[in-house]
Amino acid sequence: ALRAVLLVGGSGTRLWPLSREQYPKQFLPLLDSRSPLQETWLRVAQIAPQAPIAVANETYRFLAAEQLRQSGFPGDGTLMLEPTGRNTAPAIALAALQAVQHGDDAVLLVLPSDHALGDNEAFAQAVQQALPAARAGKFVTFGVVPDYPETGYGYIRAGQALGGEAPSVLNVEAFVEKPDEQRALSYIQEGSYFWNSGMFLFLASRYLEALAVYRPDILQACRAAMAQTRSDGDFTRIDEAAFKACPAESIDYAIMERTPDAAMVPLQAGWSDIGSWDALRRIGKPDAEGNVLHGDVLAQNCRNVYARADGRLVALLGLDDVVVVDTADALLVAARDKVQDVRKVVDKLRERG
Ligand code: GDD
Ligand code: MG
Repeated sequence: ALRAVLLVGGSGTRLWPLSREQYPKQFLPLLDSRSPLQETWLRVAQIAPQAPIAVANETYRFLAAEQLRQSGFPGDGTLMLEPTGRNTAPAIALAALQAVQHGDDAVLLVLPSDHALGDNEAFAQAVQQALPAARAGKFVTFGVVPDYPETGYGYIRAGQALGGEAPSVLNVEAFVEKPDEQRALSYIQEGSYFWNSGMFLFLASRYLEALAVYRPDILQACRAAMAQTRSDGDFTRIDEAAFKACPAESIDYAIMERTPDAAMVPLQAGWSDIGSWDALRRIGKPDAEGNVLHGDVLAQNCRNVYARADGRLVALLGLDDVVVVDTADALLVAARDKVQDVRKVVDKLRERG
């Protein structure tokens, strides 16, 4: 069986002032009327409709449950609640333990819930290509051709095709999570590197085996936490004290950098992790002047502007390369090439209290 695992954690500060601690980006209707979480479920519902697992932070249980229900998350699905965030390696371990509980070893399609994808058909095809390799025990990731030296991503050096039943799956020669700027630049110049999209396909049992080898401490803590799980119909709640004892780590550092069984399928599907306001401008189909305007925005003689009006009218005149996001209680005006630093504004705000 193929089961979807939706990761619903993290808070995402780079889309402030729209994204807030109480309302992170995966729940926001950023591109149209649906949120990235809903888009993610609808995308995967075509491929893996049965018994999906969503792993969410308890803080967002109502938002997650409501949005998933609205987009047709099925009754045989599980919504697991983490009492606290421990990053992706433990979150996926909880899902894998849940999946093997009844003795059937599923292939897990692990998906962050805060990404955008232009071409769902191409994604479905990539998953089909990856399936034989995953069934054979590989940890398959989906690789995106990079276009700038982003330091917030994992980089994959792809090698030979695996051949056999999985001709379009490539061997992973090296996996480097979040390299520094210089290394990222050298990877881009070298040309044989891909970005790790953060979506994975592997057998639940293989994931647990690999954790037992590389991070037995995480596996043990997650087993202990699962042993004390309480289910109340809507939610499967992970025990707080037991899960708090679990070390925090991402799957990228815990498994992908270490396993000799990493593999990759190239993905050309307009993938974006919606990492900034300018990323939204690029996914949002800019007009002839390069502008993307949401809500009641009037732009005169502007170029490469992303503007978003939440209530009142916003008028822009003669501006190039700016981001303007107006909400009820905060207004952001930023230079387009500084949008990554929005998180520094949020840091400042936190200091102010
Ligand atoms: N349930 C749960 N619990 N989900 C979590 C947790 C957690 O503790 N921590 C993170 N997540 C979710 C996030 O909400 C996101 O959807 C996904 O897991 C990935 O976590 P991020 O924190 O966004 O990771 P990243 O962006 O720094 O890096 C990952 O994604 C990049 C692509 O966007 C890595 O896989 C990189 O290698 C990759 O390039
Ligand atoms: Mg991310």
